[in-house]
Amino acid sequence: MVSFFKTKYESILNRIFPSGFYPTRPFNLNEVHMDDLIKKAAEDLAAAGKVTALTGAGISTESGIPPFRGKGGLWERFDPMEIAHIDAFMKDPAKVWNILVKEMKAIVDTATPNDGHKGLAKLEAMGKLKTVITQNIDGLHQAAGNTDVIEFHGTFAWQRCMDCSRKYETREVDISKIPPLCICGGILRPDAVFFGEMIPQDALWRSRQIASDCDLMLVVGTSAVVQPAALMPVIAKESGAKVVEINPERTPLTDEISDYLIMGEAGDVMNRIVAELEKISPPAALETPRTQS
Ligand code: OAD
Repeated sequence: MVSFFKTKYESILNRIFPSGFYPTRPFNLNEVHMDDLIKKAAEDLAAAGKVTALTGAGISTESGIPPFRGKGGLWERFDPMEIAHIDAFMKDPAKVWNILVKEMKAIVDTATPNDGHKGLAKLEAMGKLKTVITQNIDGLHQAAGNTDVIEFHGTFAWQRCMDCSRKYETREVDISKIPPLCICGGILRPDAVFFGEMIPQDALWRSRQIASDCDLMLVVGTSAVVQPAALMPVIAKESGAKVVEINPERTPLTDEISDYLIMGEAGDVMNRIVAELEKISPPAALETPRTQS
């Protein structure tokens, strides 16, 4: 709808108000609409009692971590079935380590949270957001300060021995020899979910519970094409929650499940939503009252 109006009317409006005549900047319908949606999201958050977030790779792109799909995505360069399927890892662990895991380790070891992650952490600090369900394995929500993070696809922070299940912090793993080995001699693998593997049962179970119990779900930076994660907004919607998407692109949820899409980058959008929410509910008012001496 927005893009329809944008393409249909924006050039006409810019012709009616040629640059120079229009005092500050050319008319931009997307921005006008975006301001309204940001305000609406802040109002919806202020009114909501139980807020949860579902995040995907898009929230971490501003931290320098590439997404999977779309421009610059990992699956543009690699066939996921050849390097991210459990069968591929079992067949040739060294190949998967050399092509995928080493590169991920280099990026994730040094990545830091961006404004998108920090915005969600602020929502938790404001008492608004409780749980983040993330498909990401980069640990950046926890690094930003969110305390209840469900890692739907596991974590890259740890490597696990395929023989004895001993765990090693990824940052500490010596990759001078590939694949790296456990002290027992077993091969180390990321403690994350490969294609072809089950979602950790507790993550799946809790996510479904939380999705069905929330009254607003923020869906940030996911293409919403991988199941069962993409089912969580559907469960939320069916249970009566509002679903608000933040993504520069449309997804299969847009117009079908989401109440509205805020078309923008997570960092900028989250900064603006938090700023609006602070106007409605100033931070001081949200602080726990001090006990009287
Ligand atoms: P995708 O790479 O499929 O999608 C990333 C989404 O983020 C796209 O919809 C982009 O439009 C959006 N995006 C990009 N930059 C953004 C930004 N700055 N702010 C907000 N959104 C932005 O990533 P996921 O949906 O997370 O699974 O992919 C789901 C699963 O597929 C992953 O967990 C992974 C993958 O294969 C496994 O490895 C098991």
